[in-house]
Amino acid sequence: MATAPLASFEPVLPHGCTFTPQDWAILSRQWYPVALAREVGEAPIKARLLDQPLVLYRAQDALVIAPDRCPHRGVPLSMGRGNGRGVECPYHGLTFGAGGRCVHVPAQPQRSIPAQFHLHTYPAVERYGLIWTCLDPAATAPDTDAIIAMPHWDEAGFQQIVCPWIDIRGSAGRQMEGFLDVAHFAFIHSESFADPDNAQVPDYRPRRTAQGFEAEYWSNVANYPKGVDKAPPGFRWLRHFRCHVPFTATLEVHFPGDDRLVILNAASPVSATETRLFVPIARNFDTDQPVQGVYDFNRQVFEEDRAMVEAQWPAQLPLDPSAEAHLTADMSSMFYRRALRDLGLCGG
Ligand code: FES
Ligand SMILES: [Fe+2]
Repeated sequence: MATAPLASFEPVLPHGCTFTPQDWAILSRQWYPVALAREVGEAPIKARLLDQPLVLYRAQDALVIAPDRCPHRGVPLSMGRGNGRGVECPYHGLTFGAGGRCVHVPAQPQRSIPAQFHLHTYPAVERYGLIWTCLDPAATAPDTDAIIAMPHWDEAGFQQIVCPWIDIRGSAGRQMEGFLDVAHFAFIHSESFADPDNAQVPDYRPRRTAQGFEAEYWSNVANYPKGVDKAPPGFRWLRHFRCHVPFTATLEVHFPGDDRLVILNAASPVSATETRLFVPIARNFDTDQPVQGVYDFNRQVFEEDRAMVEAQWPAQLPLDPSAEAHLTADMSSMFYRRALRDLGLCGG
């Protein structure tokens, strides 16, 4: 569901912006998840996107996303509470309802409410169990290709699992590149699913797409949790990556038979060096099993990655091809960096 801004306003860099003005201008036109849909109710919650503090709430069943700042005296509205009519600011009790409209001013309840008291809202849509938004003041609803398409999500027989988010003290670009990287399994994921003695990366060839690139990676690295081996001898695993720049990608894992697992990696750039990672998952097997097992395994794998992403220097992904050395196994990384450059980004 989309909500239109009540008034247009000039894009200004957030206070303390950690991006270059050019990168911020490009990134602010993209759509990102900022919360789980199940987290957002009548009580306000806070988020941060591209250094912009946000408040999220629901009023009359409509989603509202706005700068986290009361238009009266600048108190964060996320400090407020839901009072049945909307979000009540804790300082003087102004209440903001659907569409960000100020609906009550306790100090002067009989007077009409001037437009300056209404919130400038951002558009909000719910997809894959997440709340997505865009900071571009011209945006209202996402274009067809603005948000990544997740294979199988809506198909009959597939279970939808929206894992809790993970905060990472690293950049969205570094995290994304790690998700697309097939050369680290034997080292980083040997506790969760990979074989430490199987490090060689078979050749693969990514293809450019309108949204970024895709890659089909065949190998014998299993995707079962450690200790589980249900694949026939010699089974070759297909991992199909589809990248949607700047910071989302899906991985469709082809298990034995027609079993499929799709992971959406949505790296939401909190700042240039901080990321909130959202991971919705769809699968057509074990659909009667409690989702907690998926939450736990997903957390284990992404925690293994997080240790690397938080340690990498520089924190921002270098887009200059000569800044780091590359392996043939890094084909996806090369395609990813090129796609980011083609967006016009400068990176770290
Ligand atoms: S600061 Fe919010 S009501 Fe005064
Ligand atoms: Fe990884």
